[in-house]
Amino acid sequence: MPMLNFTYHNPVKIVFGRGSIAQLPRLVPADAKILMIYGGGSIKRNGVYDQVIASLKRNPPAEFNGIEPNPRYETCLKAVEQVKAEGFDFLLGVGGGSSLDAAKFIAAASVYKGKNPWDMMTNWARVPADSLPVGCVLTLPATGSEMNGGAVVNREETKEKLFFNSPHSFPRFSILDPEATYTLPSRQTANGVVDAFIHTTEQYLTFPADAPLQDRQAEAILLTLIEEGPKALAEPRNYDVRANLMWCATQALNGLIGCGVPQDWATHALGHELTALYGIDHAQSLAVVLPGMLRHQRERKRAKLLQYAERVWGIVAGTLRVPQPGPEEEDARIAQAIERTEEFFRSLGVGTRLSDYDIPAEAVELVASRLEKRGVKLGEHGDLEKKSIVEILALRV
Ligand code: NZQ
Ligand code: ZN
Repeated sequence: MPMLNFTYHNPVKIVFGRGSIAQLPRLVPADAKILMIYGGGSIKRNGVYDQVIASLKRNPPAEFNGIEPNPRYETCLKAVEQVKAEGFDFLLGVGGGSSLDAAKFIAAASVYKGKNPWDMMTNWARVPADSLPVGCVLTLPATGSEMNGGAVVNREETKEKLFFNSPHSFPRFSILDPEATYTLPSRQTANGVVDAFIHTTEQYLTFPADAPLQDRQAEAILLTLIEEGPKALAEPRNYDVRANLMWCATQALNGLIGCGVPQDWATHALGHELTALYGIDHAQSLAVVLPGMLRHQRERKRAKLLQYAERVWGIVAGTLRVPQPGPEEEDARIAQAIERTEEFFRSLGVGTRLSDYDIPAEAVELVASRLEKRGVKLGEHGDLEKKSIVEILALRV
């Protein structure tokens, strides 16, 4: 298949490096009425809050805090009320993907013309057609939210975890200071590596589209994550390692590696259901699903899995002690590459089985039924049905 047609437009200004939070006054419009959106207080403990406040002392922001990991719709709506009541015209998201996504959602919901902002997540005809401007200060490299137009929000009432993607929701700028990530607990550092890794595989482990550049960009991200991830856990205050991880995570989901190639995203769809139902971290849900997805879909992903085995894990013909070169030996290479992937996640401390998170076997049927009910077409061929989803998750019990 030839490369697919595409339009690529990414307007986010990235300001990267040590000390870059001090540039905020140059990035935020001088007369902006700013509402700063953040989470449970990690930014107060690690000095990021103080840096933001110090740099904006001429135009101090108001604050909305308490955004949960896997941000809640109900909480975001409270912020929307505050934006409307007090007339804020610029939102500054400070934190990880949850705070950034919440800021994007609140910014869009504050100017949404329809009755119910949840429609933005459920109805493609109603994705945000407008938004207040948003700026970001990122403290957790993982989601790519700092350089894309996506936002994922959870609705407690219905236990739904849904997203929108809108060209109006790209941040105006994102500040990426690797030092802001020094205080990440190991669990969150590992989550970030796994999330970025799986953003990359969602756009790479499909079928060939004669896109050698995009393939090699994806492989560069995967190889860098494999090299740098363990170092970040061993040396949390190593600037170079943190900087490389941060840039990897941004590159994994800013649209670039997905240009002109088929994309999967089924692992994310299943993972979001697991988080919505059982509250596990986003990356944990992905680490559970991906090995099952790859094993189940190994024939359809065969060419790319062989390429992945060779270029990312160095598993080439003749590496494994399988008697005859040929299809069986190739099968063994693919199996080995998937095992190495799972081992990599586990080596970072991220569990890869439902049982690692005490999720009961009923989850298999429940997740598949919920996705079926929603009528979503999953996978790079858009044809993964309930039966396959059950089989994939059954591999992960
Ligand atoms: O609550 P705070 O104080 O912010 O603490 C957070 C939270 O407890 C903490 N943390 C963040 N930076 C820290 C820190 N702790 C110490 N030092 C720091 N520097 O880490 C915890 C997790 O934060 P969270 O923002 O929830 O994590 P993450 O960045 O992994 O974001 C996950 C959310 O993003 C969505 C996920 O579904 C999930 O809701 N995603 C967003 C995407 C997008 N917008 O494109 C794509 C992704 O696939 C993903 O779905
Ligand atoms: Zn993700």
